[in-house]
Amino acid sequence: MAVRSASIPLLVLQVLIFSEVFVLAHAATRVGFYSSSCARVETIIKQKMQAHFSSDPTIAPALLRMFFHDCFVTGCDASLLLDSSHGEQTEKDNGANLSVRGYEVIDDIKQAVEAACPGIVSCADILAFATRDSVVLAGGPEYSVGGGRFDSLTSSSSDADGLPSDRASVTTIQRQFASHGFSVKDMVALLGAHTLGVTHCGTFSDRLFNFRNTGEPDPSMSADLVSELSMTCPNRGGVSNSEVALDQGTRDVFDSSFYTQLTQGHGILLIDQALNESPLTAELVSMFTNQGAFFSSFVQSMIKLGDLNIKGPNEGQVRLQCSKVNSQTMPPPAVPSSPPERPTTVPIAPPRRNPEFRHHVVSRRRFHFSSFDGPFIVEEIPSPARRFHRRSHIRTRRPVPVFLRPQLEKSTNLRKRRVITRKRISSSRHSRHRRF
Ligand code: HEM
Repeated sequence: MAVRSASIPLLVLQVLIFSEVFVLAHAATRVGFYSSSCARVETIIKQKMQAHFSSDPTIAPALLRMFFHDCFVTGCDASLLLDSSHGEQTEKDNGANLSVRGYEVIDDIKQAVEAACPGIVSCADILAFATRDSVVLAGGPEYSVGGGRFDSLTSSSSDADGLPSDRASVTTIQRQFASHGFSVKDMVALLGAHTLGVTHCGTFSDRLFNFRNTGEPDPSMSADLVSELSMTCPNRGGVSNSEVALDQGTRDVFDSSFYTQLTQGHGILLIDQALNESPLTAELVSMFTNQGAFFSSFVQSMIKLGDLNIKGPNEGQVRLQCSKVNSQTMPPPAVPSSPPERPTTVPIAPPRRNPEFRHHVVSRRRFHFSSFDGPFIVEEIPSPARRFHRRSHIRTRRPVPVFLRPQLEKSTNLRKRRVITRKRISSSRHSRHRRF
């Protein structure tokens, strides 16, 4: 059916409105997110990662896995990093995460980042940047990572039940990946992360001795590898917990050798080898033996992974310690514990009321602060608007906490400036005035 020409602009408008609503409804990451608030953050993280990697190169696979386990469960929000407390088990303590390593490295990086830019950079972003640096340090491709992920306020062990199992079939994991918006190609490219790192005998030893209760080895594993691994993981009743490289070619190098190994029956995890056996994925395995093809798909899929279910400022916070939400780590509020019923005015240079405020202010500089109850954004009004805003009135739910003021004054050079507004970004009452 022909579309009448008059309806085309209407259609375009509808598409634009829809996409605008969609963009607003889903927080997203942005490359250069910290360029004005913490310009050195990526350099700090890179230097820290270089130091950790040079003393222990196995930190690269550890962080890569941590990133996947965090993002695949409730999105990239550092929910995996929260410690269990008060009898509430977090994702970290789910069986699927017990062998995830590297938390102390993220804590160390966080400390350095906090020293440079207090309360600005989320743990979720630190993990995303550190993971990218891990890939590069291990010889993998470079790529840009956006920032802007806020850290979750909660974590529940049962959420991690959604992580894929190495015993599942290709169609099962394909469904799991598809439910997060990943194509089959994304899935095969992401599993290429198994070019680094290790597993343990107990994970796959049935493939050596008694595959599916046949009393025989898994026929998809090469006979040479079966006999070699039978020495490392002997069938002595108990489970040996020796480490075995996931990529039998180059275990410490991020390259395409993992796929080449699969084509030779050298996959260690059942799911890895199954990628080469399934008609759904075998062609992709063969394609990714070409390193250029693998690297370019891996980068695209990692960026997609890093954008999964990003939390915006209303749903999360910038944690000050990655293992705890801020309410547990911050000093008690320096303001009255029960917030005032009626909005109060910021005590510095309070302007008078102007209902048109939100239409006139174009914020030039924003400063992010973390508080005991979530992040704040302080906006500095640019000079052309100042005259106007001297007569404006900015409402806030309560004053900037006393312990945040020195930080605020330092960052904004407040004493020299005249007009400052503040918004509590987690306040739903003010959300309709938000312009970012
Ligand atoms: C179907 C999906 C996946 C399954 C079933 C799976 C399963 C596993 C298993 C069982 C291990 C060994 C753990 C141990 O023995 O301690 C492992 C290790 C690893 N996984 Fe995956 N994985 C999957 C996808 C991914 C993805 C998408 C990534 C990253 C993007 C990833 C990165 C890693 C890394 C780097 C290691 C080595 C960790 C280390 O040496 O510390 N995995 N994975």
